Amino acid sequence: MEINRLFSLEGKVAIVTGAAGLIGEQIAQTLAYSGANVVLLDIELEKCIEIAFDLPTESIAIQADICSEESLINAKNEILEKFGRIDILINNAAINEKVENPIDVLESTKFENFPSEMFQQILNVNIIGTFNCCKIFGSVMINNCSGSIINIASTYGITAPDQSLYKDKDGNQLFYKSPAYPTSKGAVIAFTKYLAAYWGHNGVRVNTLSPGGVENGQNEYFIEKYSERTPLKRMADKSDYNGAIVFLASDASSYMTGANLVVDGGWTTW
Ligand SMILES: NC(=O)c1ccc[n+]([C@@H]2O[C@H](COP(=O)([O-])OP(=O)(O)OC[C@H]3O[C@@H](n4cnc5c(N)ncnc54)[C@H](O)[C@@H]3O)[C@@H](O)[C@H]2O)c1
Repeated sequence: MEINRLFSLEGKVAIVTGAAGLIGEQIAQTLAYSGANVVLLDIELEKCIEIAFDLPTESIAIQADICSEESLINAKNEILEKFGRIDILINNAAINEKVENPIDVLESTKFENFPSEMFQQILNVNIIGTFNCCKIFGSVMINNCSGSIINIASTYGITAPDQSLYKDKDGNQLFYKSPAYPTSKGAVIAFTKYLAAYWGHNGVRVNTLSPGGVENGQNEYFIEKYSERTPLKRMADKSDYNGAIVFLASDASSYMTGANLVVDGGWTTW
């Protein structure tokens, strides 16, 4: 068999949630340049329209909230009307508190003060949103007895945040990475295994991709500390996950389900 064909997504229909975000845009481009028709789904419509416009395959933008089943059912109907099938689902949308944009100041990010409403909101998007998309879009896949679902987790679903990373040069804690994000990503990894086992006989594969931190305009001191803590001595480029996405989405990973593919520059090895 020609090896390139193994990785081809020609004729496939792929949904990317959170497609307007940093990694989502990359994923949408990667899938399209591998031949897939891409559905860019996000609450932010304008950015998805812009990205879709430049893609080489027939691709569309849909505004939907992954926390709303009604919104996702409307999206599903629109996709089926347009393409008639769903082959690939990338559950990428999440609330991701970033160093470059922390959700709140020091006091409120302390575990002892962390608002339960905030905890619930993050769990709702990151876990229930993933669950909703798998249920609504994955059900179309099982009817066709074929499909690949990739749930995006994080190194923080595997290891705890080292809060000293979030200190400035003088040792002052700037904020704390919240308890909600790692909890949600750990749940995504467990949920993936559940669904892989549950849908294995339906021909639908379900895997997790766990990325490490992407360099994206954080302060120099943070980048230096993160890189030092990483065996490959750098943060990720946003394109570093493209290969893993094509691998998991395509027939190249046809005997793989329930796995967690960790692409983190070695962060979780020590
Ligand atoms: N950026 C990193 O360093 C990093 C590292 C590890 C894992 N991840 C994971 O990768 C994924 C993408 O991260 P990112 O940095 O690109 O995030 P991002 O914040 O840039 O993008 C997230 C996107 O999700 C969308 N979204 C949020 N809530 C939504 C909802 N209810 N319905 C529909 N869309 C919604 C947002 O509008 C946004 O466009 C996330 O799952 C994140 O946890 C990111």
